[in-house]
Amino acid sequence: DGDGKDEGKAAGGAGGAEKFPAGELKIYFGSQTGTAEGFANVLKEDGRRMGFDAQVIDLEDFEGDELIDGEKAIFLMATHGEGEPTDNAMEFFRWLDEKVEEGDSCLSNLNVAIFGLGNTQYEFFNAAGRRCRKTLLELGAAECYEHGEGDDDNQLEDDFENWKTGLWPSLVHKFHPDGASGAGTAGSLSPPELDFELKFLDAAKSATTKPRRFRETEVVSSAKHYFGYDVGTVRIVENTELRSPEDSGSTKHIEVDLKGSGQSYQTADNAYVIPQNNPAVVSAVAAAMGWNLDQPFLIEARASDFKHFIPTPCTVRTALTNYVDLMGLPKRATLQGLACFAKDDAEQQRLAHLASMDGAEEMHQFIQHEGRSLAELLTVHFQSCDVPLAHFLHFVPRLAPRAYTISSSSSVQSSKLAMTVSVVGQAYADGRTFTGVATGYMQHLPVGAEMQLYVRASTFRLPRDTATPVILVGPGTGIAPMRAMLQEREYLKGRGRTLGKTMLYFGCKNRKLDYLYQELLEGYVKSGVLDSLRLAFSREQKQKVYVQHLIREDADLLWDLIGNQGAHIYVCGATNMGADVLAAVKEIAAAKGGVDGEKYAQDMQHNGRYVAELWSA
Ligand SMILES: Cc1cc2nc3c(=O)[nH]c(=O)nc-3n(C[C@H](O)[C@H](O)[C@H](O)COP(=O)(O)OP(=O)(O)OC[C@H]3O[C@@H](n4cnc5c(N)ncnc54)[C@H](O)[C@@H]3O)c2cc1C
Ligand SMILES: Cc1cc2nc3c(=O)[nH]c(=O)nc-3n(C[C@H](O)[C@H](O)[C@H](O)COP(=O)(O)O)c2cc1C
Repeated sequence: DGDGKDEGKAAGGAGGAEKFPAGELKIYFGSQTGTAEGFANVLKEDGRRMGFDAQVIDLEDFEGDELIDGEKAIFLMATHGEGEPTDNAMEFFRWLDEKVEEGDSCLSNLNVAIFGLGNTQYEFFNAAGRRCRKTLLELGAAECYEHGEGDDDNQLEDDFENWKTGLWPSLVHKFHPDGASGAGTAGSLSPPELDFELKFLDAAKSATTKPRRFRETEVVSSAKHYFGYDVGTVRIVENTELRSPEDSGSTKHIEVDLKGSGQSYQTADNAYVIPQNNPAVVSAVAAAMGWNLDQPFLIEARASDFKHFIPTPCTVRTALTNYVDLMGLPKRATLQGLACFAKDDAEQQRLAHLASMDGAEEMHQFIQHEGRSLAELLTVHFQSCDVPLAHFLHFVPRLAPRAYTISSSSSVQSSKLAMTVSVVGQAYADGRTFTGVATGYMQHLPVGAEMQLYVRASTFRLPRDTATPVILVGPGTGIAPMRAMLQEREYLKGRGRTLGKTMLYFGCKNRKLDYLYQELLEGYVKSGVLDSLRLAFSREQKQKVYVQHLIREDADLLWDLIGNQGAHIYVCGATNMGADVLAAVKEIAAAKGGVDGEKYAQDMQHNGRYVAELWSA
């Protein structure tokens, strides 16, 4: 069978009381982009080594009774949106709230440990983790280990690592005191047991390269889109450059035809693009690992509760192209995974060191600061790593969908959606370059090419009463939802609706280089869709000017719109810009309206009058 290089033959995953004397431990995760899920898998492996029958549960698959009957559980909770839970945790929070409302103390037998994932750049830091803790405790659960919080603006992985250092001794002490001395250690160099088997298939039989059909219940919820659930195939109908040829960067206006995709959208929703790895990177990794790209393989469950995370049969090429994050900066768990399979002692020690807290500084420098992807580690720095494909697929993070705010109006073009995509690129002093995975993939897709995406609701919704003034703040790629809402306002105006005052704050480096949609925006001013187009060209004068400066300059006018006319404010783009704009609005409310700026802004957010969608740039 196949090249016989890897059969993934580890012992079965299920275990009984002898193997796991510390009993069942459920590890729940609320995750949007995979980090919390990755941490959950790390804890699962640690836990199993320590004698716990650890199971990872996507909160999307959460069942209340299971929690009520459980003895101990860990929660890894990311915060998204503006202080909101992740999509997969929404139902879980609804359940908690209902139980609290009923005055229930149904979790009085449950011991919990909670770690929140957040980012201090956002206003509501770690809101979901805190809310989770508060409600679990209200329902009677006892905290068996200190609440942890990680900051993705700094060293989230270190925060998690520090938190879990004390976690296991606490849990072992409480639930498995006899085994305290004999328990295995977390972070060992022996490969974990897998709960699936990877079988290579006969390449001559073409049927072996087509995945079988999977029921939704058979697959990992966060990988559903790989299996064709909630995702559609769309066709590129436009892919044009928005910047001047003189600019070193690139921003693409990409339109896709949704016909037949099963996807639909509302103005300024989010499109999640399913990216593919660059074929050259895929080939280089396969060559370094000695894998034949055309080799088909199959994944078979070993444990009854196993959930498939990629659709098989498929070829090695398909797996490396679509399902694994080869270009991301490897996390500790990946470095630890590689260390298990490095044949060269020095390489193994270095990898284990980089994965440990002792090697934290070196890891930050070598991986994060100097920007080294998993692909680079395998092809250049740690060539002795000989990872069986099964383990590779198990420990390398999945290639995640990327969000793009839709920059078109569904009233104007319901079956075609537009995205405004800034191509991510970086050049290092030593000559290495990095191109973002999804933006690099989309950058050169020709008209007619197909790609996959799904749509999710955003919080950008124009006021129902079109006469309500709107203040749009969208510098750089943050222009995307503003373009969509302006297109929508133009449509409404065309249908005879009265528009309230409409202001747009846009910013970029230089009007000649990266003034996105210049013609369109200036056209909106001429046609009266836009009353005011305020432009901040940061590099056209000595002192940098940004949108937040213009907002402060316009304090009187803005307060009239906000305080007297009930204007709605929409902000999109980088997190630090968003924080500055919010601060400016609070200042204006205090200075011009004589109100408590903090409280005023909070009320605006609460009433949907201040809407921001921000991402770190
Ligand atoms: C709600 C939301 C809406 C968004 N809307 C838009 C939008 O309208 N338009 C838009 O352009 N973007 C938007 N984004 C951002 C978008 O989702 C992507 O994050 C962005 O396009 C980068 O994706 P990528 O795959 O090209 O880059 P990635 O490959 O994911 O890289 C992203 C960053 O990670 C780091 N990095 C990762 N790997 C390496 C490496 N090997 N070496 C060095 N650095 C590395 C770098 O800092 C790099 O800039 C939005 C994000 C969110 C959350
Ligand atoms: C669009 C977006 C919104 C976010 N909003 C918040 C927030 O309001 N508060 C916070 O503390 N962190 C916020 N974060 C940071 C995430 O919680 C953090 O990056 C976390 O590691 C993501 O975990 P995940 O990959 O499991 O989803 C946000 C991140 C993104 C991308």
